[in-house]
Amino acid sequence: MPDAMGRRSFLRFALAGVGGAAVGVPLSACGAQSEPRSPQAQADGGGRILLAYFSRPGENYWNGGRRNLKVGNTEVLAGAISARVDCDVHRIEPVDPYPADYDATVQRNVREQDAEARPAIANSLASIDGYDTILLASPIWNVRAPMIMSTFTETYDFARKTVHPLTTHAMSGLGTTPEDYAQSCEDARIGTGLAVRGEEARKAGRDVDAWLRRIAR
Ligand SMILES: Cc1cc2nc3c(=O)[nH]c(=O)nc-3n(C[C@H](O)[C@H](O)[C@H](O)COP(=O)(O)O)c2cc1C
Repeated sequence: MPDAMGRRSFLRFALAGVGGAAVGVPLSACGAQSEPRSPQAQADGGGRILLAYFSRPGENYWNGGRRNLKVGNTEVLAGAISARVDCDVHRIEPVDPYPADYDATVQRNVREQDAEARPAIANSLASIDGYDTILLASPIWNVRAPMIMSTFTETYDFARKTVHPLTTHAMSGLGTTPEDYAQSCEDARIGTGLAVRGEEARKAGRDVDAWLRRIAR
């Protein structure tokens, strides 16, 4: 590809081709913190891609020990993807933020999993109707996505959309995200996922490129 934007545009079309038709897609910049365009604004373009992610900065697992992360691993991965794919990016924010403390987060997550909780989202999207492909990115917490990802997937209509699970993790890979999203994103097609070790997220460019090539085939 001749330049960064040309390459990004190609990957955007390739991805959209997996999920549905790419029709007259405008090239738009998107950064990890950018707000999604309104569904109305997307209606004309069609074939758009939404990257929705949850990530928690603070104390986290790191090669058997702990490290304080200013930016969460999944947010770093989301940045690598949005640098390569023309997409809208939505960071899922909990109404009740998770503690920076690792053990306190583990305990809260156990409580939420046991209770089948649906932690409230502070910044819900009005709709995902304008998107054909949804990239759902999160850490793995106790072998599945944090429960707030279920809040997200149960809020919207995923029918006829393609969902790609993306995770950062310590050792659990995608965990149960493909099965969980297959169940909660009713009538969606679950596409190839990407799992990156959290400790590798800051050098995941090659893995992201290889994944994009795989799903573009
Ligand atoms: C509450 C909690 C539970 C976790 N459970 C798992 C797990 O079951 N399997 C795993 O591989 N990693 C687990 N991890 C590690 C995270 O998935 C990993 O550090 C991830 O990269 C964190 O992403 P983030 O910085 O975007 O939140 C857990 C981390 C936390 C905080």
